[in-house]
Amino acid sequence: MPNLFKIDSSTFINLTMLLLFINKSIIFTRKGSVMKMKLQKWWHDKIVYQIYPKSFKDNNNDGIGDIKGIISKLDYLRDLGVDILWLTPYFKSPMEDNGYDVADYLEVNEMFGSMEDILELLAECKKRNMYIMMDIVANHTSSEHTWFKESKKSKNNPYRDYYIWRDEPLFDCQSTFGGSAWEYDEQTNQYYFHEFAKGQPDLNWENPKVLDEIAKCINFWLDKGVKGIRFDVIHLIGKEIDQNIHAYGPTLHQKVHELYKKSYGNYDIVTVGEAWGDLAKAIDFTDPKNEELDMVFQFECTSSTNDPLRLGKFTPRPIDMEFVKNTLIKYQNGLNDRSWNALFVENHDLGRCINRFGSLEFYDKSAKAIAVMNYFLKGTPYIYQGQELGMTNIKITDINDYDDVEVHGFYKEYVLDKKLLTYEEFLDGCHKEARDNNRTPIQWNNQINAGWNDGAKPWLKINPNYTEINAENQINNQNSIYSFYKDLIALRKNSLYCNTFVYGKFIAHLIERKNIFMYTRETDNQKILVVTNMCGERENISLPFEIEKVLLSNYNHSYNENITLEPYEAFAALIK
Ligand code: GLC
Ligand code: CA
Repeated sequence: MPNLFKIDSSTFINLTMLLLFINKSIIFTRKGSVMKMKLQKWWHDKIVYQIYPKSFKDNNNDGIGDIKGIISKLDYLRDLGVDILWLTPYFKSPMEDNGYDVADYLEVNEMFGSMEDILELLAECKKRNMYIMMDIVANHTSSEHTWFKESKKSKNNPYRDYYIWRDEPLFDCQSTFGGSAWEYDEQTNQYYFHEFAKGQPDLNWENPKVLDEIAKCINFWLDKGVKGIRFDVIHLIGKEIDQNIHAYGPTLHQKVHELYKKSYGNYDIVTVGEAWGDLAKAIDFTDPKNEELDMVFQFECTSSTNDPLRLGKFTPRPIDMEFVKNTLIKYQNGLNDRSWNALFVENHDLGRCINRFGSLEFYDKSAKAIAVMNYFLKGTPYIYQGQELGMTNIKITDINDYDDVEVHGFYKEYVLDKKLLTYEEFLDGCHKEARDNNRTPIQWNNQINAGWNDGAKPWLKINPNYTEINAENQINNQNSIYSFYKDLIALRKNSLYCNTFVYGKFIAHLIERKNIFMYTRETDNQKILVVTNMCGERENISLPFEIEKVLLSNYNHSYNENITLEPYEAFAALIK
């Protein structure tokens, strides 16, 4: 051991034993004579890449992406530098909500492949030091799940209480996908509750058996080598439907903690919750002492384009980048040193970030600026498939070309039934915000069907811009968006800077400058500056730091004290 650890040997041995026992590694830093110890987890320096299997790569040319397709692209992903692959649900499902309606957690969706395929994927990942994160839907199942089929049979069925049944629809509850959240069932003359689509009945978490069942399903996969879990709408499982409480019910945290104890807390994995809420709620979920989740996705930034006073995502409003910056700062300061952030700008429920946060006019620069702004923050970067290629929203002009249950639910409600929006207005909203924008097949090359398959009709339209925006075009082009993402990831992992990017303190600067996001990441012996001009105008700034070396930039500039930033100019630099 280096002699800087001034600690007597028996204390050291005890400490080591304790740490070995809890299977966690440590790093030591030294500040004056006080020794600080930080817990380090294996996933802290990892990059997550989200895969929507239905759209990623169709290997057997049946028009639907599949697990073999994912396996065929593992080297592409390894080259990009990502480590953990979050797969949206690959379980048996009638696909009313594209897999978020699970009919059996222990079986693989036939349209994606087989159990052998998943095991092969796990083995192939292992060879490449990559990991799989699965997506657990604990709030609801599919109405095709055996539990629900049993539950429906009679009021005395042992599975009746696995779901939420009432004699009357309560509180005129609306489903997230439009229409009532209560569905009448003739057989037993009662209504069941579904927060989402009719085919997604909510599980009754008041029944302790539900928690045990879900824990069993999770452990089944963790025993097979899955190393991470993304929990779907986890903030909803403590609901008290008779009080009209849906999110953040009084027993939520107790339930998540119990699930942790009975399942994933016994494995060395990484967890992230989809939890729509605020900073205080994110802290409750992620404070390590609560033993619930490692991090949560915060949606304050990504949903800020949905106008809450009108019809939400179907009446979008322009992004306010100052709000985005201040929100990111709030979460950095709020979670720093206590728990952990999840850094993301896209997922399968949002439109493409260039359309929402960036600018088509400054397409290339803004795509890169968004990456700089986000992925040098403290936390785990999540990249959504195709984001690294600068894929954009698709222009769809016929409602029938949309697949998403949400689009069709609200089309019925807002356009057909209530006539709140015209057909054109609705399609315009969809173009900006619909979830299908991010679900179009990945554009691998400029051949037939973008090289996604061999020509069979894809389940969702391919964006016609694939002839220009595709992986093949970008991989060997040093200036492409793909290469920029690759460089960014390599920089974040470079052993010279990695400790600062992963553990360095976050400090915001020039906060008063509306269009500038400037921050430093600092450790005792290194400081890295990150600057982003978040708008399409030039901006002048005076740097309060001296630059030692530019580490990454989307322009080829050298910087001194006074800088004129070009539209969407962004860079990271080592400073003195
Ligand atoms: C989450 C998923 C979304 C799904 C919903 C219901 O928000 O990300 O895709 O539709 O939960 O499961
Ligand atoms: Ca297929």
